[in-house]
Amino acid sequence: MTQWIEGRITENIHWNSNLFTLKIDAEIDRFTAGQFTSLALDINGERIARPYSFLNSPEQRTLEFFFYTATGGVLSNAMVKLEAGDSIWVKKQANGFFVLNEIPPCKDLWMLGTGTGVAPFFSILNTTEAWERFEKIVLIHAVRTQADLRYQEVVAKLCEKFQDRFLFQAFISREDVSGTFHGRIPSSLRDNSLEQELGLTLDPKNSHLMLCGNPGMVKDSIEVLKGRGFSKNRRRTPGHITIENYW
Ligand SMILES: Cc1cc2nc3c(=O)[nH]c(=O)nc-3n(C[C@H](O)[C@H](O)[C@H](O)COP(=O)(O)OP(=O)(O)OC[C@H]3O[C@@H](n4cnc5c(N)ncnc54)[C@H](O)[C@@H]3O)c2cc1C
Ligand SMILES: NC(=O)c1ccc[n+]([C@@H]2O[C@H](COP(=O)([O-])OP(=O)(O)OC[C@H]3O[C@@H](n4cnc5c(N)ncnc54)[C@H](OP(=O)(O)O)[C@@H]3O)[C@@H](O)[C@H]2O)c1
Repeated sequence: MTQWIEGRITENIHWNSNLFTLKIDAEIDRFTAGQFTSLALDINGERIARPYSFLNSPEQRTLEFFFYTATGGVLSNAMVKLEAGDSIWVKKQANGFFVLNEIPPCKDLWMLGTGTGVAPFFSILNTTEAWERFEKIVLIHAVRTQADLRYQEVVAKLCEKFQDRFLFQAFISREDVSGTFHGRIPSSLRDNSLEQELGLTLDPKNSHLMLCGNPGMVKDSIEVLKGRGFSKNRRRTPGHITIENYW
């Protein structure tokens, strides 16, 4: 049975009309970077719960979650209204296998996320383990508009701290913004343009990819990557692609 802990909202940041972040104080069990928990509210006498990835690293005490308000979405549209001091249910134990322990040894780690699907990557990037294990880490954040490109201050800090070991590239699909890719991740994997831009080659011997967010991006990227000799990472048959679909 789910064990619920009553958490307290410490901050609700409204980034734009569709995106927000909740910071929550709750005494939950220790989790592993990349995992998710469930958040819930009691709405019309019913406890409505959904899975959400931690954006904070396990060492950071305040829990942080990055949300999209889904059109007609029951829970996200209730959570967006929460204010500091309000309560929220947080599942005591985290879940999920989108974690570094599941990734076989390799040189470079590529993190490909759409929308709020970058959350688990920030959690992982803020652990020491990530930087002990990989030579280079690439973070790709694909969004529709520039207004959806959030957490750039965290990206800047990582760039400053890890220099040429950390590579970041934004994709903005519905606006032309200089310095960003205009289009989608899978086509840039198909024509090698992403690798050319980053100056780093993807190959099954050296690279592992973590894909998170829009299931269309995950599916289309896997299709391209399979054609280039990459395979899905499974416990029984280790491979090069580890995924988390958000819906
Ligand atoms: C492992 C995991 C981790 C997740 N982590 C996050 C997270 O960190 N941040 C986050 O915003 N969401 C995350 N999600 C999605 C989240 O669980 C909910 O599905 C989402 O918030 C919609 O819930 P709702 O009650 O508002 O909408 P609902 O009433 O459940 O449904 C509304 C519709 O929105 C669509 N939808 C589902 N997910 C999303 C989404 N992310 N954005 C827009 N539309 C969506 C569905 O197709 C659904 O039909 C995660 C999902 C999984 C499986
Ligand atoms: N953001 C909104 O204003 C909005 C409004 C209503 C509903 N929604 C729904 O909310 C969910 C999340 O919205 P979001 O804007 O955070 O994220 P999203 O729709 O997942 O878009 C994020 C990025 O992923 C890209 N993408 C979509 N499908 C892809 C595919 N098959 N392969 C590769 N890339 C792909 C998008 O490109 P494209 O721009 O080319 O699609 C965009 O650059 C989606 O279900 C969406 O339908 C969003």
